[in-house]
Parts: sequence; structure tokens; C-alpha cells
Amino acid sequence: MGSGQWLVEKRATFRSDSFSDNDNAPETGCLSIVVLGASGDLAKKKTFPALFNLYRQGFLTSNDVHIFGYARTKISDDQLRSRIRGYLTGSKEEEVSDFLQLIKYVSGTYDTEEGFQLLDKEISEHEFSKGSVEGSSRRLFYFALPPSVYPSVCRMIKRCCMNKSDLGGWTRIVVEKPFGKDLDSSEELSTQIGELFDESQIYRIDHYLGKELVQNLLVLRFANRFFLPLWNRDNIANVQIVFREDFGTEGRGGYFDEYGIVRDIIQNHLLQVLCLVAMEKPVSLKPEHIRDEKVKVLQSVLPINYDEVVLGQYDGYRDDPTVPDHSNTPTFATMVLHIHNERWEGVPFILKAGKALSSRKAEIRVQFKDVPGDIYKCQRQGRNEFVIRLQPSEAIYMKLTVKQPGLEMSTVQSELDLSYGQRYQNITIPEAYERLILDTIRGDQQHFVRRDELKAAWQIFTPLLHSIDNGELKPQIYKPGSRGPAEADELLAKAGYVQTHGYIWIPPTL
Ligand code: BG6
Repeated sequence: MGSGQWLVEKRATFRSDSFSDNDNAPETGCLSIVVLGASGDLAKKKTFPALFNLYRQGFLTSNDVHIFGYARTKISDDQLRSRIRGYLTGSKEEEVSDFLQLIKYVSGTYDTEEGFQLLDKEISEHEFSKGSVEGSSRRLFYFALPPSVYPSVCRMIKRCCMNKSDLGGWTRIVVEKPFGKDLDSSEELSTQIGELFDESQIYRIDHYLGKELVQNLLVLRFANRFFLPLWNRDNIANVQIVFREDFGTEGRGGYFDEYGIVRDIIQNHLLQVLCLVAMEKPVSLKPEHIRDEKVKVLQSVLPINYDEVVLGQYDGYRDDPTVPDHSNTPTFATMVLHIHNERWEGVPFILKAGKALSSRKAEIRVQFKDVPGDIYKCQRQGRNEFVIRLQPSEAIYMKLTVKQPGLEMSTVQSELDLSYGQRYQNITIPEAYERLILDTIRGDQQHFVRRDELKAAWQIFTPLLHSIDNGELKPQIYKPGSRGPAEADELLAKAGYVQTHGYIWIPPTL
């Protein structure tokens, strides 16, 4: 049995509790994956490499899968292949060439039927050549496109490219943020897409949900007795969810300036992580049960208090020629969210994201309250913390106080450390996109954002975003390569975060 096959079977076992839109249908039909926007950046850097990795591991085989690239640019199959080739790394030349042969390119516009009819013809020919029974084929459309064309592309797919009948086959679309700019524009987009496709056919990607340690969150929380009694307001002082990048908006200034850090990172990636940290135990692992619990968390978030928001913009951001000279767009934000429910009342959830900072990392930091009646108080360096390092150097570690080894009776801050690089040396951690595309093929929507989740997420941030957009709130300028505005650290302290001095966790080297 090849390792790919083994993985297929293992994962199949794990997700036996999940369901898809065609729950009882055998999924054996021919699979066509269409990458729309095939000549763009996202497709080259993320979508095709993810498909290649799935191919390499045996999840996609030339027996039943064909990949179509679609875009406006008039290029040949080979020209598309050579554009992609450089991004397919870590494998033998022969394997790369075999994969590239699975890709066919179709050129056309995003709002006229002609191109999509041609696309349908190509897909149908491929299905016919594989002897696929009509109606059993599977068609996955990956939108590596700007959301402005989502509605017209959805219309064209619906008119020209749907799987024709329901003999176990399906049509699914994968879309990615930004889903609008605020509550109203997002709802309008959802309504337009919702008129054409069922929710069960729509896969809204938030690639943070595909990260290994984000996927581990529910396992950690609900499969370990340790955490069950501790995970609440009685024991937890505060929670931080942090995203830092050590580079600016390089090359993406035009896009970024329209959105800013709150729409780019906080409203989606960090908020999704918050949901998994804060949600109640779902009835089962069924995607709808999990998403139901996430929605409840979002609906319990109180309106954001502007005194608990610090915005920043790095010095030099406006030098980008695609950024307006007087831009008010934040490239940094720290804010406190409060969840009004029995478990979390009074526990600040601090969300922090910034570009052009001193380091690159994403992590969840759960800080526990002080020990009551502490007899070691005078020697204590810091509080217990449970840290989940999402990237880089994936790790889960627990900061705790222990006796300093030796003859003296003194205490020291140390850690229980599960560093993935050390513990799982022969395992390659899959890329988020790889995993999420596989979930789409399998019809598992657990790690995708449901429409009501999206709506609730926009409800939380829309007033704040409008206040930033109309200049009522202004970002502080900070130095690139710094920690961001000093006010952010002050806000952290005000929210009750106690920093540990004289201790730093160093990821173990192999
Ligand atoms: C994207 C944002 O969604 O996530 C980018 O648009 C950001 O601005 C990126 O750089 C970060 O993703 P990752 O996986 O590198 O943390």
C-alpha cells in the first residue's frame, strides 16, 4: 500500500462522522477541478502547488482527475504550465511534468457565456473520455479571482457548466475573502451567490482553518481531561490571539489600502481562531454541529469599545505609489473583545495583528490567573500560560513554575514543550490550502465559513470599520521593525495581561 493510500484510509476513518451534501451517494465519478483566475498570483502561488501536493501524495490520480485553468489571458496550455512550473517544488522533475500534463487551459471572459460554454465542452469531453456516466461527475470550481466578479462567474457556471443531473455527482464552488467590505456589502454578495448555489455547494475558505494547529484546537480542548475544568472564567485571566509579520504590504499596497489589517486578518483569520478557542463542545463532529457552536460565540461578542482599540500604520507605508498620500488605513491593530456568556464573562480576548513588525509569528496565548494563597509568590516570575504556536515552529507549550534544579530551594519558570519539529520528525505538515481543497472534494464543510458565521463576523466589526473609514479613528505611526505602537502594550496591561520577565521560550533545534 502506497503512503498516499494509507493516508486516504486513515483520514476516511477519522471523518466518518462528517457528512456531505450528497451523503449517501458513492463518489466515484470523474473529477474536474477548474481553477478560475489561473494566470493570477493566488493560483500560481497557492492553488496549483496545493493541487500538486495532493497529486504527489496520491489523493488525485490521472485515472480520474483533470485540471482546467480558466482566465482572460490568451495563452496556450504549455504557456500556463511553464508559468506554474517554478512554484512546484520539492519533487522530481518527472513527477512535475506528469502533473502538468493533467492541466488544460481555456481562455475566456468572466461575464459572457462563450468562454464558459467552451469550458463546459472541454470538461464534458474529459468526462466522456473517462467513461463517466452522465450525472455522476464531480465539478469543483476554485475562484482564484477578485470578489467583484464572483456574481457573474457564478451565473455563468450555473448557466453553462453545472453537472447535469444527480447521479451522485456534484458542482461545488470555492471562494475566498474579501467577502465584501462591511455587513451590507457582504450580505449583498452572499445573496447574489445564494440565489444561484445552495449553501452546501459553497465553500468559503479561510485558510487559517486549514492550519495544522488550528485544526488541533478542538482535539486539544475536547479530548483532554486536563483542559475541561480549567477552560473558563474561573481560571483563565485573558486570551491573546496574535498575528505578526516582519514585512510590509510589499506589492499589495493597492489591495491592502482598501481593506486594512482589520478586514485582512482580524475579522476573518483571528476571529475564526477565537471561535475555536471559545466555543462550547459541539454535539458531534458534524460540520453543522461545529459551525452552530461557532456562530453562538460570534453572536455573544459585545460591541467593541473604542477605548480598547489601538490602531497603527507603519512609517513608510504611504511611500508605496499605489497607496494614497493621506491614507488612514491601519497596518496594525490591537483590540479587546468580550464574550458575554457564562463561560467567558469578564475574560478579555485580545486580538492583535500587524505588518512590518519585529518578528513573524502567529500564536494563541492563554494566560491563567494567579495561584490563590500562593506561598511562592515572592519568587514567582510569571503566570501559567498555555501557548499554541501556529507558525513558524509549530508547537504547543505550557509555561509553568518549577523548582530550580540544584541544592537551593528556589523556583524558576520553565515549560512542557510539544514542539512539532522535534516530536514529529518524519512528518511533513500539509499546507492549509492542500487540506482545504481535499475537504472540498470530500464534501466536508467543517473547516469552511458558513453564511451566518460570516454575517455575525461582519456585525462585530462593521461599526469600527466605518469609524476608521470616515477618519473618526486614526492610526498611530510606528517604526517598521518595532513591536508596533507603545499604546498597544499599555492596552494589553490594562486588559490584565501580565508579562513574564526574564523568561523566553526558545524553540528546540534539531
Ligand atoms: C492573507 C492576508 O489572508 O494571509 C495576507 O491577505 C497575509 O496579508 C496572509 O500575509 C498570511 O497568511 P499566512 O498563512 O502566511 O499566515
